[in-house]
Amino acid sequence: MRHGSLRQGQQAVTATVRPWRPGDFAGVVRLLEEAGLPTAGVEPSLPNYLVAEEDGNVVGAIGLEVYGDSALLRSAVVEGRRRGSGVGGTLVASLLELADARGVREIYLLTTTAEHFFPRFGFARVDRDDVAPAVQASEEFRGACPDSAIAMRRATGAGERPTH
Ligand SMILES: CC(C)(COP(=O)(O)OP(=O)(O)OC[C@H]1O[C@@H](n2cnc3c(N)ncnc32)[C@H](O)[C@@H]1OP(=O)(O)O)[C@@H](O)C(=O)NCCC(=O)NCCS
Repeated sequence: MRHGSLRQGQQAVTATVRPWRPGDFAGVVRLLEEAGLPTAGVEPSLPNYLVAEEDGNVVGAIGLEVYGDSALLRSAVVEGRRRGSGVGGTLVASLLELADARGVREIYLLTTTAEHFFPRFGFARVDRDDVAPAVQASEEFRGACPDSAIAMRRATGAGERPTH
């Protein structure tokens, strides 16, 4: 569990990252829908999803779909009014730790909106054709995300810490 000390305006706030529970499902689906992110494959029970909680409220989420030693990072979302206060970065850092613990060697993601958010964590753009076949076969790659989405990849050891 990771605690982030965050700033939002002049008010100090704190978020705790913890594993996903079935009770998080409805609230996270709402956050994903509000952000225009795909919800296909998001289910009440998910082994490698995390949520960020503040004052008992879920304010963000992120998930990892593991395909052997490759994985897909998806469902990265922070509630609109909480964005820009470090919650997203804390979620990504926690997910990278989880991926290491699962023996994942490379992580992919698709994004239409956050291409400039992920490089600080070691992600770089790749051609969709160069994405590991098992990840290309995932539901998100096969259709949940529009074809215009950009693919990014992070190899183990790249950008262990935020680069800014
Ligand atoms: C992407 C997202 C999860 C980031 O969460 P967040 O809590 O705002 O992230 P942080 O506060 O840790 O952001 C840290 C930095 O990233 C920047 N950033 C955040 N979202 C960004 C984006 N979409 N594009 C570029 N930069 C972004 C912030 O400005 C901040 O920069 P700074 O540290 O230089 O000031 C959040 O903006 C979000 O939910 N976006 C809509 C859904 C989405 O696009 N998800 C990605 C799907 S792959």
